[in-house]
Amino acid sequence: MKVLFLNGPNLNLLGTREPEIYGRLTLADIEKQVRTRAGELKVEVDFRQSNIEGDLVGWIQEAKGKFQAIVINAAAYTHTSVAIHDAISAVGVPTIEIHLSNVHAREEFRHKSLIASVCRGQICGFGVKSYILGLEACVYVTE
Ligand code: DQA
Repeated sequence: MKVLFLNGPNLNLLGTREPEIYGRLTLADIEKQVRTRAGELKVEVDFRQSNIEGDLVGWIQEAKGKFQAIVINAAAYTHTSVAIHDAISAVGVPTIEIHLSNVHAREEFRHKSLIASVCRGQICGFGVKSYILGLEACVYVTE
């Protein structure tokens, strides 16, 4: 099985960005932990980040036929992007929404996810473990 991990805007700043909310791990540290677990699960992983909404839309479109599942931390685009919602809906690849922080316990504008309705489920609030649980959810939804 191949899983595509997509990371949205500002996640390239993890490690120094508001560590009290997002922790001190960099995105590279998170990728390393994901790859370790993926190896145990015999899952192949592609791990990408972009600050550009169109890149994320393009990668979702290209995932069809190449990846069995997508794990997406759309970051701020979670709360704004009809385009990412539509791309997930259009390709039909099972997609898991994840967040490091518990978005429901934060500012009200983070309580609404525009992509949740087209995702198989949402995992938030567990830091790097949200990524690991997202990977495990992919195994679950595809078996
Ligand atoms: C985030 C939560 C979003 O609200 C925020 O815009 C992010 C990160 C998280 O992983 O907790 O950039 O997706």
